[in-house]
Amino acid sequence: MTVSETTNASVPLAALSEAFVRKVAGKTLRIGVVGLGYVGLPLAEAFVRQNLTVVGFDIDQAKVDMLEGGKSYIKHISDDRIQSMNGSGHFSSTTDFNGLKSVDAILICVPTPLGAHREPDLSYVVATTENIAKHVQPGQLIILESTTYPGTSEEVLQPILEAGGLKAGIDFAIAYSPEREDPGNPNFETSTIPKVVGASSEPEREMACALYGAIVPTVPVPNLRTAEAVKLTENIFRAVNIALVNELKVVFGAMDIDVWEVIEAAKTKPFGYMAFYPGPGLGGHCIPIDPFYLTWKARAYGLNTRFIELAGEINSNMPGHVVDRLAEAMNEKLGLAMKGAKALVVGLAYKKNVDDMRESPALELIDKLRARGMEVEYYDPYIPVAPSIREHPEVEGMRSVKWTEDALAKFDVALIATDHDDVDYAPLLAAVDLVVDTRNAIKERSDKVVRA
Ligand SMILES: NC(=O)c1ccc[n+]([C@@H]2O[C@H](COP(=O)([O-])OP(=O)(O)OC[C@H]3O[C@@H](n4cnc5c(N)ncnc54)[C@H](O)[C@@H]3O)[C@@H](O)[C@H]2O)c1
Repeated sequence: MTVSETTNASVPLAALSEAFVRKVAGKTLRIGVVGLGYVGLPLAEAFVRQNLTVVGFDIDQAKVDMLEGGKSYIKHISDDRIQSMNGSGHFSSTTDFNGLKSVDAILICVPTPLGAHREPDLSYVVATTENIAKHVQPGQLIILESTTYPGTSEEVLQPILEAGGLKAGIDFAIAYSPEREDPGNPNFETSTIPKVVGASSEPEREMACALYGAIVPTVPVPNLRTAEAVKLTENIFRAVNIALVNELKVVFGAMDIDVWEVIEAAKTKPFGYMAFYPGPGLGGHCIPIDPFYLTWKARAYGLNTRFIELAGEINSNMPGHVVDRLAEAMNEKLGLAMKGAKALVVGLAYKKNVDDMRESPALELIDKLRARGMEVEYYDPYIPVAPSIREHPEVEGMRSVKWTEDALAKFDVALIATDHDDVDYAPLLAAVDLVVDTRNAIKERSDKVVRA
């Protein structure tokens, strides 16, 4: 049965909204999740766990085939979890977007990267919205979850969705609800992170809050652009604070003060301070990218985002700083030049306990070490073979080395770029004379270990 068979285009949205809310309560609501990646898949799972029916849509046939076969393609989501989604009878996945007609709510979770000139690349969002527009039904609720600049839902999505004649806020509903998923974080998952929900009218907000209320506490905000701004605020806050602590690392390092000791002590203050940690640079799909969505939009208002630009500059200088520290340490402690020496980069993923390499600073570090004549290999228990990465073609096909004292002994220096929890550093410390640690992964202070 399609949504149009159960609702009527001439009925005002307030009435359609009541029907929608009743369906959520009665668990008869059907949800379409478009984009089954790091965000869409756990979101689908959270609804399925509440016995709501989810159809997952993706353009990637390989992903759909894996899901159908009970296999996961995301490290921290086990095959068992996919199998129990399939076994629940409430989940299916497809590349056939005709099925969008027969769902009540459509959640868009597709990528929002930056273009070549650091401008927002909304091509995935636009392509998805155009697809949805072909199928949009009266009474449907369409929610963008992808991170983006304030104004996207009204200025980009709404006109595409209305092109067929149905009107947002009258015939169908639009909402924006930013995804706050933190992959690999053992303390929080989709169903324990409150969801901010913005919409242009009360019925639309009620529909979206009822939907998410089935899985998480909701935080309604007055309109779409406020919800879009919330997500950017959260990620800009992180980018700026990471830049600050990276700057402090450089300054304190020059004064022979260990920034990690400083942070440990500072965070004992019970108010007015929040610990952020330095590292080899920003990584991942969000923090290095999202702030520049606001920078781009601010230009349309004749405004500059100076904090964002400065944070970007400091954070993107970090790989260079780390490599300089490594060169100094090799010189001082080993009497070795970089050229011709062998380096092991420990951790390829952009953060601990995930297998995601997007924007990983480790890639930049490998490039920089090689540019200075070093022979570089890597170890990452979650990435046995480096996949193809557009900006770093030279890394493709590299294989993670064995983590034994014998296999590690050939390296002159190791550079810890990512601190996966289940790595035992004992073989490394036994085998290698110099370890440059950008994450404070090795807690014992020793002459062999240099923080950078
Ligand atoms: N990964 C995170 O930790 C995280 C956290 C919060 C917010 N976000 C935001 O969520 C959004 C999605 O990120 P992600 O990490 O899940 O991305 P992802 O690359 O893991 O997944 C996106 C999925 O969308 C699919 N896709 C691409 N174009 C499509 C189309 N036209 N139709 C249907 N499917 C399509 C891809 O095949 C892929 O499976 C982004 O805006 C990101 O900024 C991500």
